[in-house]
Amino acid sequence: MPDPSTRVLLVTGGSAGIGRATVRHLAAAGARVVTCARDGDRLAAAVGDLPVVTTTAADVADAADRARLVEAVMAEHGRLDGVVLNAGLGWAGLVEDMPGDVVEGVVALNLTGAIEVTRLALPHLLAAARERGRADVVAVSSVAAWAQVPPLSVYSATKAGLDGFVKGLRREVTARGVRVHTVNPFFVRTEWLARGHGSAPESDDDARGRLSRGIAPERVAEAIGATLDAPRSRTVAVPRWAGAVRLGEVTPVDRLLDAVLSRRLGAVRRAADRAVRRRTG
Ligand SMILES: NC(=O)c1ccc[n+]([C@@H]2O[C@H](COP(=O)([O-])OP(=O)(O)OC[C@H]3O[C@@H](n4cnc5c(N)ncnc54)[C@H](OP(=O)(O)O)[C@@H]3O)[C@@H](O)[C@H]2O)c1
Repeated sequence: MPDPSTRVLLVTGGSAGIGRATVRHLAAAGARVVTCARDGDRLAAAVGDLPVVTTTAADVADAADRARLVEAVMAEHGRLDGVVLNAGLGWAGLVEDMPGDVVEGVVALNLTGAIEVTRLALPHLLAAARERGRADVVAVSSVAAWAQVPPLSVYSATKAGLDGFVKGLRREVTARGVRVHTVNPFFVRTEWLARGHGSAPESDDDARGRLSRGIAPERVAEAIGATLDAPRSRTVAVPRWAGAVRLGEVTPVDRLLDAVLSRRLGAVRRAADRAVRRRTG
């Protein structure tokens, strides 16, 4: 029986990758967790075995589903202490090769969806901060927010937008006890590329051989768990050395990247095509 005095946390996108690792990490640390994904069966198979976890099928890119999700948390627990904005999609390719509906879908989830879940959760988070002394928003961003590098230009733009939202929100809520964090991972071993290109694995077996290269999602989950206990709002690169990616924003480096990358678009396009074929084929 879950302890009703423990924190209630909402984690979006909990059926795979970083979200699944985060749900498991937070549940093991004693939180009560509500999580969602579009594929409710995969979600239940991923984390439905945990007694402190509630799963619900919901699409964060859909306004009615977002409202239903936050209402479901309040109906079940009567409180909400933190939100982990994890659900996100990527797409590897040049802007000129990207279908318009894919652009709209990536923005609708990574940016509009994340902002709107936060907006709907905010009255409950402010109440938690008032009544129990703290509440948290953790945005799962990316180092791509700092390095606007093809073939991830549109994805990078959504993550830079998310980081901008976090900075603004901090200035609205810090004095009222809500901490707002970003966790910015480098490459993580997940289903991200396959899912973003319309080939979401149906199971872990199906995902085998189709995971992107990178660090284990559990490392990102640990960083998310640590921010939820941090004394103040944090921006955390995972691994820590990946914070050096911000050097790309220094003007001479920025100009060099413009000059070099825009001359190598053929190679960028071929590398992205190969990576996508390996994960979706
Ligand atoms: N993998 C990386 O290298 C990397 C690096 C930096 C940042 N990130 C960020 O980390 C976050 C998690 O990515 P991941 O790599 O763990 O991806 P993943 O393995 O593809 O997992 C994504 C999770 O989000 C869910 N999801 C996708 N679209 C959704 C929607 N519209 N509504 C609700 N749930 C949705 C998926 O389930 P359903 O498909 O069933 O909905 C799945 O549970 C994303 O924000 C991503 O941008 C990833």
